[in-house]
Amino acid sequence: MHLPALALPILFTGLSAAQTITGQFDCLPAGGFTLCQNLWGKTFGVGSQKSTLMNATTGTVAWATNYTWANGPNQVKSYANVESVSAKGIQLQNVASAPTLWDWTYATQSVGIRADVAYDIWFGKASSGNPATSASAYEIMIWLSGLGGIQPVGSQITTGTVVANHTWNLWKGPNANWEVLSFVSAAGDLNSFDVDLNDFFTYLVEEQGVAPTQYIQSIQAGTEAFVGIANLVTNAYSVSIVPK
Ligand SMILES: *[C@@H]1O[C@H](CO)[C@@H](O)[C@H](O)[C@H]1NC(C)=O
Ligand SMILES: *[C@@H]1O[C@H](CO)[C@@H](O)[C@H](O)[C@H]1NC(C)=O
Ligand SMILES: *[C@@H]1O[C@H](CO)[C@@H](O)[C@H](O)[C@H]1NC(C)=O
Repeated sequence: MHLPALALPILFTGLSAAQTITGQFDCLPAGGFTLCQNLWGKTFGVGSQKSTLMNATTGTVAWATNYTWANGPNQVKSYANVESVSAKGIQLQNVASAPTLWDWTYATQSVGIRADVAYDIWFGKASSGNPATSASAYEIMIWLSGLGGIQPVGSQITTGTVVANHTWNLWKGPNANWEVLSFVSAAGDLNSFDVDLNDFFTYLVEEQGVAPTQYIQSIQAGTEAFVGIANLVTNAYSVSIVPK
């Protein structure tokens, strides 16, 4: 049996078009990343969200998410994010550098939106483990934006701490079986973030007592939506780990 010659161009068109996911826990392969909706807290409110993959290679991904959430203003509804498939499985003490670039913007945003734009980085004793599980020991958040007066888990433990040439307020507190440390930008939105994440890892080991033997189990980058209507666009995101 012969395939009609037309089948090929149709197939390629399908692969290059933007893809949108809508289900609560839908995920999509995205080059060297996985794009996931993760609407884990949707039942705390009313609304919906969809996430779109624009383009992706092994090194860089562009994606967007649109949401409308109401009610439960202090509850996270979702963490739509991209997770690197390769930047993980290494002990902090063996990292030489971890360059990342995140270029993002709110294309649309309602008045009174409550949301962050943040990395969620997971450490554990074992070389691998899924985020927010019994394998997790630390959840490290880096908030590039926090709108509407939302706060991280725990309480603020430092003010004006400089790491990676940016100024942060550091928050700390427990969550389930892991510790959460959240760096919140003290200088407003950081829309074009280009740093070495190893500066954070080194600070955590030297100043916050994190064991250098902890493994990086996952690096995610996304947005926690509480309430509001928004179209958040990531024009480019990349992260990698260079071992010693
Ligand atoms: C997301 O919202 C933007 C701005 O309103 C719109 O242009 C775009 O089509 C929406 N995307 C999807 C997948 O609905
Ligand atoms: C640190 O930030 C300042 C001000 O934003 C900038 O001028 C400088 O080039 C940065 N230094 C490095 C090493 O990135
Ligand atoms: C990927 O999509 C983003 C957002 O639309 C765009 O800015 C960028 O130029 C695109 N990159 C490529 C390689 O097409």
